[in-house]
Parts: sequence; C-alpha cells; structure tokens
Amino acid sequence: MPGQFVHVAASEELTLRRPFSVAGVPRERSLDLLVELRGKGTRTLAEQAEGSSVSVMGPLGNWFSPPREGATAILVAGGIGVAGLRYLAEEFVHDGRPVLLLVGARTREGLLDGLMPRPNGGITLELSTDDGSTGTAGTVCELLASHLERVENPARVYACGPPAMLKEAAAVALRHGLPCEVLLEEIMACGTGACRGCVVNTKHGYKTVCSDGPVFDAAELLFEGGPYA
Ligand SMILES: Cc1cc2nc3c(=O)[nH]c(=O)nc-3n(C[C@H](O)[C@H](O)[C@H](O)COP(=O)(O)OP(=O)(O)OC[C@H]3O[C@@H](n4cnc5c(N)ncnc54)[C@H](O)[C@@H]3O)c2cc1C
Ligand code: FES
Repeated sequence: MPGQFVHVAASEELTLRRPFSVAGVPRERSLDLLVELRGKGTRTLAEQAEGSSVSVMGPLGNWFSPPREGATAILVAGGIGVAGLRYLAEEFVHDGRPVLLLVGARTREGLLDGLMPRPNGGITLELSTDDGSTGTAGTVCELLASHLERVENPARVYACGPPAMLKEAAAVALRHGLPCEVLLEEIMACGTGACRGCVVNTKHGYKTVCSDGPVFDAAELLFEGGPYA
C-alpha cells in the first residue's frame, strides 16, 4: 500500500537493515525503490550487480488514507521525499482522483520530479527551488501555502521530506483547516516495533515509526522542541 516500506539487508556484512518506501508496484511480486546515496548501506545497495539478490522484509508499516471522493489530493515532496509519495501519486492517477503535486528542492540538481508520474488530465505538477533555478523561487511549503489560498475543493495534504519541511507543511495545512498526513523517515533498527529505537512523541504518547507509522496524522505529532520530540 502507498506509505508502506520494506526493510532491506544491503549486504550480509551489515547487521541492520535499511528502510525504503515502496515507490511503485510495476507488476506482481515486484517493487520499485528509489534510493538516495547516504552512507554505507545505500552505497552497498547501489554497488550490487544487476540481477543479484538482497533480502527484503515487508511490506511493513501503515499507509496513507484516501482523500474525500472528488476532492483534490495535495502531495508535497521535498528532495528524496518523492520516493514516499510516488506510489501514492500513481494510485491516485490510476483511480482518476484529482492530484496537485508539489515537488521542491534546494536547487535544480536536487529536484526529483522526473521520478513522479507524468502530468496528465488528472495531475498538476508544480516545482519550486530555494534558489529559484527552476520553478517558483522559495520553499515547497511556501508553494503549498500559495496554492491553498486558491485550490478548489482541497481534500488533504500528504507530505514526505526532511523533518523541518514536514513540520512546516503540517503547519500550513492545519492553518488552512486541512488534514495532513506525513511520512516520517526515522532511523530504524528492527523495523517491527520490538526495539523501540524509532519512537516519536505524539499526543497519545510515544509511537514507533516502523509499526505505528511511518504515516502519521500531523495533528497528532508533537513537533515542539525538535523535529517531533
Ligand atoms: C519509513 C522510511 C522510508 C524511507 N524511504 C526511503 C526511500 O524511499 N528512499 C531513500 O533514499 N531513503 C529512504 N529512507 C531513508 C533511508 O532509510 C536512509 O537513507 C538509509 O537507511 C541510510 O542508510 P545508509 O547506511 O546509507 O546511511 P547511514 O550510514 O546509516 O547514515 C548516513 C547518514 O544518513 C543519515 N541517515 C540515516 N538514516 C536516515 C534516515 N532514515 N533519515 C534521515 N537521515 C538518515 C545518518 O544520520 C547519517 O548522517 C526511508 C526511511 C524510513 C524510515
Ligand atoms: S525500529 Fe525497532 S521499534 Fe521501530
């Protein structure tokens, strides 16, 4: 389901698996993952020869809620956050739901809009870069705020990206009286709710990102004093 993730053993030498969002299901028993190179795990994965095997645990976690029938779903992705929303965008397009897709990055080089479903009758794509090199100049949350002033019949905001961006996207959505779901990308260990290494603070106590999430209603998260804690 859109929002769920898989826990991947990048190599036998690495003790901990690495979580990646399901970015697409091109055919039965097949998954798309979009992986940004960060450290040892993602590099090791990228260095695997084509056709080699890795152990994949999942799908894990919860998933995004559908929007109201006929209302516009607003998807907001920052940087590699497109990975967490790509399958959701595909499913909405498939179901014929109206989608406004906002993709932002610091610079043109960081924009990953090309990895999203291509715009067609049901999907409107808008870009932003902090330095103004492509699309609207400013953050993707500023772009969200300007759209929420005029978009007709908005249903819900769905956001994935860095913590500061999620916090801002949630604030903008809630200011406009819209529900907002965010996909959190906490560092994980077990991935199944056992170690409690991935907890975030919510109005209902600490929740694990891996098994209670990774999708949370932004109104439930306690953002004060840090990204979520
Ligand atoms: C539910 C979920 C879904 C995710 N989906 C994707 C995805 O689709 N595509 C993708 O590229 N990445 C995704 N991530 C992040 C990805 O799991 C990390 O980038 C990866 O585990 C880093 O492993 P590494 O060994 O390369 O880096 P490490 O050597 O472990 O770390 C390198 C650097 O990255 C930082 N880092 C590590 N993990 C994270 C993280 N989760 N968030 C932010 N910074 C981190 C570390 O603090 C360190 O500075 C997701 C994370 C979660 C929890
Ligand atoms: S990673 Fe172990 S509880 Fe979430």
